[in-house]
Amino acid sequence: MNITKARQNFEHLKISKIYFNHSSLGPMPLPVAQKVHEYINERSGAEVDNFKKTLKTVGEIKSKLGKLLNCGANRIAFCENVSTAISIIANGLKWERGDRIILGDIEFPSNVYPFLNLQKQGVEVDFVKSNNGVLSIDDYEKLITEKTKMISVSHVQFLTGYKIDLERLGALCKQMNIIFSVDGIQSAGVTKVDVEKMKIDFFTGGSHKWLLGLQGFNYFFVNENLQEKIEQQNVGWISVKNPWDLTDYNLELRNSADRYQTGTQSLIGMTALNASLDFFESFGFDEIEKRIKSNSEYFLSQLKLNGYKIVLENFSKDIIAGIVSVKIDNAKKIEEKLKEGNIICTVRDGILRFSPHFYNTKEEIDIVISELREFTKRS
Ligand SMILES: Cc1ncc(COP(=O)(O)O)c(C=O)c1O
Repeated sequence: MNITKARQNFEHLKISKIYFNHSSLGPMPLPVAQKVHEYINERSGAEVDNFKKTLKTVGEIKSKLGKLLNCGANRIAFCENVSTAISIIANGLKWERGDRIILGDIEFPSNVYPFLNLQKQGVEVDFVKSNNGVLSIDDYEKLITEKTKMISVSHVQFLTGYKIDLERLGALCKQMNIIFSVDGIQSAGVTKVDVEKMKIDFFTGGSHKWLLGLQGFNYFFVNENLQEKIEQQNVGWISVKNPWDLTDYNLELRNSADRYQTGTQSLIGMTALNASLDFFESFGFDEIEKRIKSNSEYFLSQLKLNGYKIVLENFSKDIIAGIVSVKIDNAKKIEEKLKEGNIICTVRDGILRFSPHFYNTKEEIDIVISELREFTKRS
């Protein structure tokens, strides 16, 4: 699929909407919407029970996600959201009073609250102080003590767009015997993830942002070592080895990460994610990454050239992914003005945040810059 063909799959482009908000919510491409409609038609039509048929996609999705993250399909589990996934490790690991966890001070709260919730057990949380949107690995290292049990970090920061070097941080965790957890909802499908090479123990992703699927259906990766340390707090009939021996009540957990899937799941969410992974595959993940990065780089350069204060002042190819953030007065007002002109972005913590995807173009970026200049000149 080439870019012209890819763009034909987005309805909002037909009304010249410039949608630069994939870090919040992705639009559903037509082939994804079509599969979701098919699902609904089956459920609301004569067929009614499409459970078994849809369930067949589980293995497919997990293989595709395994390819995306470089892990076995058996190491992937589905879940509702990042918060529930991270809570599995936060609540499942054995913590002792005085154990410490290191987080960044600009993390999305889903990667913070499950750990703060452990403070009542005497677990301490240390925060790395960010500097102009950047979390330095040297600063993580400085906070490590012999009591540090875990580092949990976003691959790409939701607010600033900063992409941390996971290979370096993962190597440090390995060397110091620290569990390495990564929130990858802003990175998987955007920039390369390799859980082996990056020595990641736990990785959470989503489907409704960059992967253009539905809300409330996410996935995570957990390696075998970490799984052995987790005393699972929530179990259900799907968690066990023989789920269809319904009244045997043999609580023997599955060996694979499927054990964390407690009961009936969002089959419509699965349908959407399966279709969107196919859509991505037909364009090529490497090409997608290349285009997203090129868009971000161009956007940041143009903003800088036009005198805007970008958050990642000294950006380079290595530290950017899909998010472009700007410090600007009256950010909320500007967001609304842009919306009136059919340009969609968002404001987080007073920062104007843009997130173009692979199908977006430099021409669209030029239009956004020119509109932005109009509004900022007048305000
Ligand atoms: C980095 C990051 N993590 C997590 C989330 C979402 O968390 P949850 O899936 O718990 O709603 C977001 C955005 O909504 C995010 O940007």
